[in-house]
Amino acid sequence: MKIDKISLKIIPDSKGKDTLEAEMESDGNTVIASVPAGESTGKNEAKTIPPKQALEKVSWINSQIKNKDFATLDQFDGYLNTLQGANLTVALSMVFTKLLAKQNNMETWELIAKISGSQPALPLCFFNVIEGGVHGGGPSASLRVNLPFQEYWYIPKTNSSKKSLDEVMEVLKLLEGKFSGPMGSEGGYTMQSKNPEDGLKMLQSCTKGGWLGLDCAATQLPEKIDLSFYELITNNYELLAIEDPYPEDDWEGFSQITAALGEKIWIIGDDLTTTNPKIIKLAADKKAINAVIIKPTQIGTVTETIQAANLAKSYGWKIIVANRGEETMDDFIADLAVGLGADAIKSGCPLQKERLVKYERLKEIEKQLLVHG
Ligand code: PGA
Ligand code: ZN
Repeated sequence: MKIDKISLKIIPDSKGKDTLEAEMESDGNTVIASVPAGESTGKNEAKTIPPKQALEKVSWINSQIKNKDFATLDQFDGYLNTLQGANLTVALSMVFTKLLAKQNNMETWELIAKISGSQPALPLCFFNVIEGGVHGGGPSASLRVNLPFQEYWYIPKTNSSKKSLDEVMEVLKLLEGKFSGPMGSEGGYTMQSKNPEDGLKMLQSCTKGGWLGLDCAATQLPEKIDLSFYELITNNYELLAIEDPYPEDDWEGFSQITAALGEKIWIIGDDLTTTNPKIIKLAADKKAINAVIIKPTQIGTVTETIQAANLAKSYGWKIIVANRGEETMDDFIADLAVGLGADAIKSGCPLQKERLVKYERLKEIEKQLLVHG
């Protein structure tokens, strides 16, 4: 594909912070993509550059790609790997993927399925409905006694995106009125409590029969959680998954919990693995997890994201495509999740528009999949 023009602009994300939107033109088609950012980032994530600095590079990038013909996403991402700044490269890699799909009269999820060799499938939805940790309540979060864990998920037991969204809206109605604090980063409710189990208790009291799940984001926790606590909540709640139960460098903690609970629930790596194939391999060697978060911004291009997902799948792990703490209206991760045949998607709480668009896109894809058979 010959690219006629790339434009970049700065737009506000869900937190009002500057982020990048890329526009790409080829042969009369134009598409856009915008890039999210992490709040509780892992130390091994690819580094970003200030959006203003990215804007300064755009005319140089245009001059470099002029007259080049990128036949595949892999070729274009190979070029992107010569550039600095994962926010810049992810924006360009996503916009190229969307445009390449359009040029081939395909949906983005279809192209991703083809490139990754996956069977497209609708993911389970991990709805983040109660928030704590560094996501737990506006700019004054540090002054509040947030729930220590970052995310409490409600997980409908269906792969239908429409049914999932309908069900979580009922749960959110039940939860409404029980909370008075500010909304969390991803649009979920927040509560003041030092006891991480309180979020689970609250969610359990409003369930509509789904599973529950947690992102402990333990790198941010002041002290290490005892394995016995995780054993207790696994026995007492209908828990499907726990993400980052230990800090990102506590390999022993991860290996222990996976040995103890890995037969019963998904033990997910996020800050631990940062969508990085080298670290994913290390995690497999250490039997540290049985499931992994996949986020393009952690590694820098769509091609590397697909490689990370495929490697994780080769170990028989569950794959969860996820949003970031600071999101945009871009719905690319819905297509990514379906195209990779991911087991689940985590896109925050549908009460926030930047999260809802991803779930709405899944509903659209659900209809397309019915037509495709
Ligand atoms: P982040 O958090 O985007 O702020 O890193 C999301 C997560 O931990 O899954
Ligand atoms: Zn996480």
